[in-house]
Amino acid sequence: MKDQRDRRREPRADARANARQEKRQQDRAAPARPPLPRRPGALPEETLPLILEVGPGADYALLDSGDGRKLEQYGPYRIDRPEGQAIWRPALSEREWRQADAVFTGDTDEEGMGRWRFPETPLGETWPMKHDGLDYLGRFTSFRHVGVFPEQASHWDHMEGLIRAAKRPVRVLNLFGYTGLASLVAARAGAQVTHVDASKKAIGWARENQEVARLTDKPIRWICDDAMKFAEREARRDSRYDIVLLDPPAYGRGPKGEVWQLFDDLPAMAALTREILTPKPLCVVLTAYSIRASFFATHALMRDTFAGMGGRVESGELVIRERSAGRRLSTSLFSRWVAA
Ligand SMILES: C[S@@+](CC[C@H](N)C(=O)[O-])C[C@H]1O[C@@H](n2cnc3c(N)ncnc32)[C@H](O)[C@@H]1O
Repeated sequence: MKDQRDRRREPRADARANARQEKRQQDRAAPARPPLPRRPGALPEETLPLILEVGPGADYALLDSGDGRKLEQYGPYRIDRPEGQAIWRPALSEREWRQADAVFTGDTDEEGMGRWRFPETPLGETWPMKHDGLDYLGRFTSFRHVGVFPEQASHWDHMEGLIRAAKRPVRVLNLFGYTGLASLVAARAGAQVTHVDASKKAIGWARENQEVARLTDKPIRWICDDAMKFAEREARRDSRYDIVLLDPPAYGRGPKGEVWQLFDDLPAMAALTREILTPKPLCVVLTAYSIRASFFATHALMRDTFAGMGGRVESGELVIRERSAGRRLSTSLFSRWVAA
């Protein structure tokens, strides 16, 4: 699975992005979307900047960062990975860094676990992890990821609070859902969940996580589809949700080669999320990363999109605070519309 979370940290990201843009233009079967009409009505209230921080905990901690790398504790394992934003010096000693159980090397083997090095003992592909009492699997993937984005916990907590406080059946749509942590948190809180991802492999991992979490009796629909196509279909079928989560990559492909390009497709996707909300919606949460934009851009888009619906748009960054020197590592920007 090729997800794009860390692309902004790669040295030749710009060249690749241009190449991708060109490829997309060649690939594109359909013409560019016509501009959307501007919505009438008062803009939602606003809060920004809002910095949502994940600090070091028992299950996950950013131990240290610097010299273009980060050292993290994921359950039983200490993991050393590239981190382009860590332009400062590490605070912990080299000895501490050398105690990593797994190091992402970026060696040439693109697939499988070949790009991981295990200095002491070779480790299996997965290992047991927990988030707030929820069991799932950490996983060494070919693209330096480990099956979870811990900074998303801020959104999970917020969503869980809304679901529990609603005291009624809540329907959640998780688009670009990856390994399903948000879907599991929502299901555990009592929601009916629809989880969509283009990658069969990721859907398989998410289902495995559902078993590990012992939540197989919870109503989660796992759907391998293009997020945009699925949302369009839901709008046509009049299928509605109280919460929509959107965590799109900068660039991605649906199962049939459908191209997702954030800058081109996000306005239409945001408009669709509004269309598929129930009459008493709770929130729409958008996270973005690896893009040349600030949260002011997603903030403006979300306020325009939800004009006339009341509520509030909150925007800012998701950051992780490290244990060693307390520095904050920015991972992504977000905007969320929360009903009044
Ligand atoms: C970074 S992940 C999302 C992370 C997830 N929200 C979490 O916190 O665990 C992005 C996901 O988007 C999926 N994806 C990429 N293009 C897609 C598309 N066109 N339709 C649906 N999913 C897509 C990828 O397979 C990947 O799993």
